[in-house]
Amino acid sequence: MNIKTLVDTGFEADYTLSQINEFDKIFTSDKILQDYIYRIHEDDNTLDMKRGEFYPEILRCIISLKRAFANAYKIAEGQCQPNFGSNGSIDTIMTAMKLREINRKIDPEKRGGMLVSTPTYFRNYNSAFAKQIKIIKVPLKMPKWEMDIDLFLEKLNTLYPTVVFLVTPNNPTGIPLTDEHIIKVIENAPDDTLIVMDRTLVNVENEIRTSELLLRFNNKQLVVLHSFSKYLGLSHLRIGCALYSNIDIAKEMQPHLPLGLGVEGAIKGTKYLKENGVLRPSDYVINNIRESKEILLSFCRQMPQFSMTDFTGNYCLLFMPPDVSSTKISYYLQNKGIYVMEGVDFPEPVDGMIRLHTGGKPEFMQRTVDALKDF
Ligand SMILES: Cc1ncc(COP(=O)(O)O)c(C=O)c1O
Repeated sequence: MNIKTLVDTGFEADYTLSQINEFDKIFTSDKILQDYIYRIHEDDNTLDMKRGEFYPEILRCIISLKRAFANAYKIAEGQCQPNFGSNGSIDTIMTAMKLREINRKIDPEKRGGMLVSTPTYFRNYNSAFAKQIKIIKVPLKMPKWEMDIDLFLEKLNTLYPTVVFLVTPNNPTGIPLTDEHIIKVIENAPDDTLIVMDRTLVNVENEIRTSELLLRFNNKQLVVLHSFSKYLGLSHLRIGCALYSNIDIAKEMQPHLPLGLGVEGAIKGTKYLKENGVLRPSDYVINNIRESKEILLSFCRQMPQFSMTDFTGNYCLLFMPPDVSSTKISYYLQNKGIYVMEGVDFPEPVDGMIRLHTGGKPEFMQRTVDALKDF
């Protein structure tokens, strides 16, 4: 199995034993970790005959991470809920929202559901589907793929959704919401509607700060999702956090949280926050997105049958010439070892566009456009 096949069939493909051994070398030895923890126990003159293994340490790491988030964002510890990346936060929140609908005996014909601008991130569709929460879709406005704020507010105030998702920058378009639209939605949301602002993707432009939103809207049900994945290229640690604007909504989610997270992710996340304060995208990723955008812009100028979204985030849409299907382009690129997400594979399939990752090394984007030039 080589990496080329793995990118395409990652769901089924195993790593070979020699690849696993290579991976294993990257991590510190388990023995060193175990000895270190036993030494802490000895220093404390403590013997764990109660639970054994390292469950107390796991919980301690999560408490440290929660505290570090609370200090960085100037909110109470109880308002911070670390999870397995933003995907973990989305699933936890959607489970709680389903329970809310059940407890409130919401008739889905009349109210409830998840309100979202579409197309958007695939996990929102999956999670809503799995939890049997209806999706209220407000299509993005063409030609700029912006939020249709008037229609969005109308649906918000007439359909009483249980939960609203604001994904900014959006996946797959890479286009952010304006601060004005974010504030309008939060201000107009009914007091018992949960607003989830998914800030997993990097925005290379300035945007309203999370700590400011949490403070300003502490009387609303607002939660902001952050993750170490896209900001710092740490998706393998599966670490993110949901930050709540008040403790009551956080308490509603608490029972649905996973018990424990990976220690490595929790420790590294804590270290980052203690050293840097709030989560900020790394300069490396910001530069990659900016340079990838320049490369794509120059390509679209040279090949004007192609066009792209005016993205500021880790993904963008590239539109094909009028008579070219995205499947054809995707197969063509695949033969050159370049894998892209084609529009027909989106949760709401569309032809004529592909989604590109923009946060990687600029050489990756250059290789992609060079291949497209020969199409
Ligand atoms: C909008 C959005 N939210 C959440 C995620 C999941 O991120 P994580 O790795 O933190 O689970 C992604 C990943 O692409 C995303 O694009």
